[in-house]
Amino acid sequence: MFKRNNKKEGIDRRKLEHIEISITKDVESEESNGFEDIILIHRALPQIDFNEIDVKTVFLGREISMPIVIAGMTGGHKKAKEINKNLAIAAEKLNIPLGVGSQRAALEKKELEDTFSVVRDYAPNAFVIANIGIVQFCVEYTVEHAEMAVEMIGADAIALHLNPLQEILQEEGDRNFSCCLDAIREIKKSLNVPVIVKETGAGISLEDAVLIEKAGADAIDVGGLGGTNFAKIEFYRNNNEKAKLFFNWGIKTAISLIECLSSTNIPIIATGGIRNGLEVAKSIALGAIACGIALPFLKKAVISSQEVLKEAKKIEEELKMAMFLTGSKNIEELKKVNVIIKGFVKEWLDARGIEISSFARRR
Ligand SMILES: Cc1cc2nc3c(=O)[nH]c(=O)nc-3n(C[C@H](O)[C@H](O)[C@H](O)COP(=O)(O)O)c2cc1C
Repeated sequence: MFKRNNKKEGIDRRKLEHIEISITKDVESEESNGFEDIILIHRALPQIDFNEIDVKTVFLGREISMPIVIAGMTGGHKKAKEINKNLAIAAEKLNIPLGVGSQRAALEKKELEDTFSVVRDYAPNAFVIANIGIVQFCVEYTVEHAEMAVEMIGADAIALHLNPLQEILQEEGDRNFSCCLDAIREIKKSLNVPVIVKETGAGISLEDAVLIEKAGADAIDVGGLGGTNFAKIEFYRNNNEKAKLFFNWGIKTAISLIECLSSTNIPIIATGGIRNGLEVAKSIALGAIACGIALPFLKKAVISSQEVLKEAKKIEEELKMAMFLTGSKNIEELKKVNVIIKGFVKEWLDARGIEISSFARRR
């Protein structure tokens, strides 16, 4: 993913390295995602039947079976094709959205296209999300590249990823992010699918969320701190000692979610260290439309599509348990439950002047 590559023949090898490092090393952040400071208030009288809990929801205009997105990760290599195939089979069966990884490899080497388009072959009906790094538009890409990425996989939306932390830790990383907002504006104008702007593990602040919304994005994926950590991945890839200094860099997912919600009116997706259904429930209660999950699904997809399905079903069950205990029979009700925000997350939001007391007494 991501790395600026002057030797284009190295792209597929890098794709493999990313996958191998992610599944064999501890690439998760030492910092939490902040959800330990988000408490859903227990209802001793749920007044609902667990078996009737409904987790269906609407994601960017499409009905999906639960508020979970398989976040964009891979493509560009034979092994990545198999992973994308397994993710797609599961996404299709479950009717949940599925992202691919950066399509740059295939935009530069046509013969790699099938490592991405395989998702459409196996998920003809699922909501599929294309992916390109915004910084590429400051270097060499035009809106045609975004159109080609969408076309390549018959995408229902495109995610433009922001990864300044990773780029700055790479010797050959792209360091000119000056045209990113122009790129969002241009791409939004010429594409007829929704544009999602996503971070990749360092979060999005309220200031940036405002700029992203103004540039015309249809949704934000916060990609916050607390899950897969690209400073760690860069450390393992290149033995990069400088990366260590930035292991804890970023805005925790729970904080970034609240910052973005407090400052924009566009849908927000909570991604970054989401590992169970309780964290999904907390995200929805705070106001996210869905949660993105990457690494746990990657680890299952290298085994089989069945394993991906099992993981998603486990998270769905946990989400329903949290909904039962908050007396929420559907996602609309979950959005209105009372939430306590404490500890470091509260301290941060107070310092930022974001009002949170209304979360605690909503009904
Ligand atoms: C192996 C791997 C590759 C990734 N590649 C991309 C990518 O190409 N584009 C992108 O937008 N995000 C990429 N991501 C970031 C994920 O979409 C997600 O934002 C991040 O991993 C946080 O989620 P997690 O903690 O559930 O893994 C990648 C993540 C992993 C683990």
